[in-house]
Amino acid sequence: MATGTNPRDLAVPDGEFPFTWQDFRQIAELVHSEAGIVLTEAKVNLVYSRLAKRLRTIGLRSFRDYCSLIQGTDGVDERQAMIAAMTTNVTRFFRESHHFDYLRNEVLPDLLENARRGGKVRIWSAGCSSGEEAYSIALTMLGLDPQVAQRDVLILASDIDPEMLKRGSRGIYPVSQLGDVPQELRRKWMKIAPGSGGSELEVGDEMHEMVRFRELNLLREWPMKGPFDIIFCRNVMIYFDDETQNTVWKRFAGLLRPGGTLCIGHSERIVLGNHPYDLVGQTIYRKHGAK
Ligand SMILES: C[S@@+](CC[C@H](N)C(=O)[O-])C[C@H]1O[C@@H](n2cnc3c(N)ncnc32)[C@H](O)[C@@H]1O
Repeated sequence: MATGTNPRDLAVPDGEFPFTWQDFRQIAELVHSEAGIVLTEAKVNLVYSRLAKRLRTIGLRSFRDYCSLIQGTDGVDERQAMIAAMTTNVTRFFRESHHFDYLRNEVLPDLLENARRGGKVRIWSAGCSSGEEAYSIALTMLGLDPQVAQRDVLILASDIDPEMLKRGSRGIYPVSQLGDVPQELRRKWMKIAPGSGGSELEVGDEMHEMVRFRELNLLREWPMKGPFDIIFCRNVMIYFDDETQNTVWKRFAGLLRPGGTLCIGHSERIVLGNHPYDLVGQTIYRKHGAK
């Protein structure tokens, strides 16, 4: 135990590394101010187990030393690693499939017609994790118009976690995780990943062309001007406090075209009176104004 640590101050009594409530509070404050994520005391064991791995990797002996590192000027890289360790990256192709049905039936036909006539289509997958959400949108578009990659159509896929973005840009996924991708779309628009012996598929050139991955913290500056036709931000805000959520819903409205579509996660909600959206489907919102 670090010198001077009173056993009563320990947040996790039997841990390999001393971890006090003061350490926990410092980490929670930093994670909140950097990424908007709220860590209540109920998450203490999760914080301990995820960050204990970081302490082992970088060879530190206590959370007190870890807190000094992440708060110091030399701690920039480790702060990023800490945020990555604290985020949940769970995702899958065609997750919450009703959103893709809605796009296919209600939103994309007009947008793709516009693209065929030379117009732009811009879509944002905000908090894209390893890319499955953005590629599911691309596959839905390719299913409607096989020529879509040759038009002025772009899907921005952004996340705070650079490791996830690397995976997304590679676009290679185990076949075992592609069960929800319709066979026909998989056959036409994905290919066997080199050297995988068929156990992994890579997204085809069309999807590599359509989806652009960028690092972006939703709490900081957004360099894009928009407007976007569709924004997906699903299962990201659930970790944020109400005030941060409201700020982000408002900023999305500023970047969406009038009549643009916002899809959010199954356990997220937007309080309509405060924002210029109508609820048009399950967790699907349309920004006020004509399309
Ligand atoms: C659970 S995943 C959701 C992935 C996908 N949207 C879905 O619903 O399947 C949440 C993602 O949000 C990202 N994230 C968390 N805080 C963020 C922030 N402040 N800015 C940008 N991305 C953030 C995480 O890195 C993670 O990849």
